Amino acid sequence: MFSMADHLESAESRRPRLGILFSGRGSNCQAIVAAVNSGHIPAEIGLLVSNREHAPGVAWARQQQLPLRIIASAGREREEYDREVVASLREQGVDWVCLAGFMRLLSAYFIAAYRNRILNIHPSLLPAFPGLEAQRQALEYGVRYSGCTVHLVDESLDGGPIIAQAVVPVLDTDDETALAARILEQEHRLYAEALRYMLSGGYYLQGRRLLRAPAPSATG
Ligand code: GAR
Repeated sequence: MFSMADHLESAESRRPRLGILFSGRGSNCQAIVAAVNSGHIPAEIGLLVSNREHAPGVAWARQQQLPLRIIASAGREREEYDREVVASLREQGVDWVCLAGFMRLLSAYFIAAYRNRILNIHPSLLPAFPGLEAQRQALEYGVRYSGCTVHLVDESLDGGPIIAQAVVPVLDTDDETALAARILEQEHRLYAEALRYMLSGGYYLQGRRLLRAPAPSATG
């Protein structure tokens, strides 16, 4: 017999469920799914959401038969849209949300619904070059190093506490495409690492700083 206690225990002990939101190519989404499938990230895929029906990532997700919802955002009011997305994520029991090239700002409602459980990846060393076309901004500024950042999402634009960063040198021969491609390689690796770290729970927040929690001592 399957008792209520068994049921509660299995819900408690299940792996954390991820929601992944994207708008375009979806290569970061694919990297996260691959890391989940290989067991590198101890989680389950709860739901993929695209706000664009014709995003290349959508075709891929369909091919893989992943749980997917297209929730088109064009012309919709921000919070009203976010309420539908959050409801869909909750329906699938999603615990953590990964923004993977999701080109929309989240409302305060969404951020509060998943406070400190929404991650984003951005193709620069934040706080440098937030917003759109970060690689182009880096080239135009003339920095020698750029890279990518995984951070928690708060109400500011690309401004939440930083989880992890990877540095990529800017070469004299770089154009936007070449630099973006080398950064993207690092993004795929970094996103999986950062997510794995967050799911381990071994951290705490001190103001903006995300610090590694000391390991519990053997004697307690
Ligand atoms: C990635 O480079 C990601 O860092 C960037 O969009 C690209 C999406 O690629 N995100 C932002 O600029 C967010 N501010 P993908 O669809 O192949 O993952």
